[in-house]
Amino acid sequence: MTAPDSIDATAQLLARGDYVADRQLATAVFLALKLGRPLFLEGEPGTGKTEIAKVLAAGLGAELIRLQCYEGLDVASAAYEWNYARQMLEIRLAEAAHESREQLAGGLFTERFLIERPLLRALLPAAVPPVLLIDELDRTDEPFEAYLLEVLSDFQITIPEWKTVRAERPPVVTITSNRTREIHDAVKRRCIYHWVGYPDAAREFEIVRRKVPAAREALSRQIVAFVQSLRTMDLYKLPGVAETIEWSRALLALDAVVLEPETVNNTLGVLLKYQDDIARVQGSEAAKLVERIRAEVAVARTQDAACRD
Ligand SMILES: Nc1ncnc2c1ncn2[C@@H]1O[C@H](COP(=O)(O)OP(=O)(O)OP(=O)(O)O)[C@@H](O)[C@H]1O
Ligand SMILES: [Mg+2]
Repeated sequence: MTAPDSIDATAQLLARGDYVADRQLATAVFLALKLGRPLFLEGEPGTGKTEIAKVLAAGLGAELIRLQCYEGLDVASAAYEWNYARQMLEIRLAEAAHESREQLAGGLFTERFLIERPLLRALLPAAVPPVLLIDELDRTDEPFEAYLLEVLSDFQITIPEWKTVRAERPPVVTITSNRTREIHDAVKRRCIYHWVGYPDAAREFEIVRRKVPAAREALSRQIVAFVQSLRTMDLYKLPGVAETIEWSRALLALDAVVLEPETVNNTLGVLLKYQDDIARVQGSEAAKLVERIRAEVAVARTQDAACRD
């Protein structure tokens, strides 16, 4: 499938994958595709950063190649590695066949003995250029970031013993970071940067409608209003969109029709992952929130109905 030719077409491509993007994000994705630049997505946990790469790959009919970053990630795991065991075997066989040293050396560092890891794989020829997801780059260390520069600016990898592999057509690259540390400016400068924040209530409601369509509309509105209220509180860890979706599924599994203080208390662990946060919300705070939200959602729905009539 060809790349979308406008911001609207980009938003539609994302929507086909049930991804609800605001205008700014759709613009950033469109420009990344159009200009052939990596898309750098930084933001709060569980706000849909990783998902964009998956939806883009599906929408473009491209393979998704994922590099999950972690501390100590090195070139051997990220880009390529020589298959030493096979090379040793080749040496033994060559010795047995009395091959000359030159004959042997010439053949040892070629494609046959190369193990391709995600970065290299993303540069190899493909019918449709793949989507390369470099996930959670902030977990790696700076030497790895420096290594990435060559890949991101020239879409090439130099393999000293062999040659420089350059992509004929560059992959679509998305990089995500949870900002546990700052990523070097040199990496960011090569990318189109977008901060992925928490969605507003309208967008979060649409996300829940798409991801959990079986939940009743009133319940979905209450869920979103509750989560949005939690995000205004001084909690240690605020719930992301992932938690809103998970909570909707949990309440649906419990056959909830509307928010009830007791159900909320019993399911807070789906939304909040720190005991101190749960203890703050549980009980009277949850009851107050539920009462206020039920009243607000009821008023909003009446107004909506009046507007439609
Ligand atoms: N705008 C959105 N439209 C549709 N689904 C969304 C959106 N934002 C988040 N989601 C959903 O939320 C869940 C979490 O998304 P994802 O894993 O991409 O978040 P993340 O930002 O990468 O989180 P983390 O920082 O924890 O890795 C997924 O199920 C995703 O489908
Ligand atoms: Mg992620």
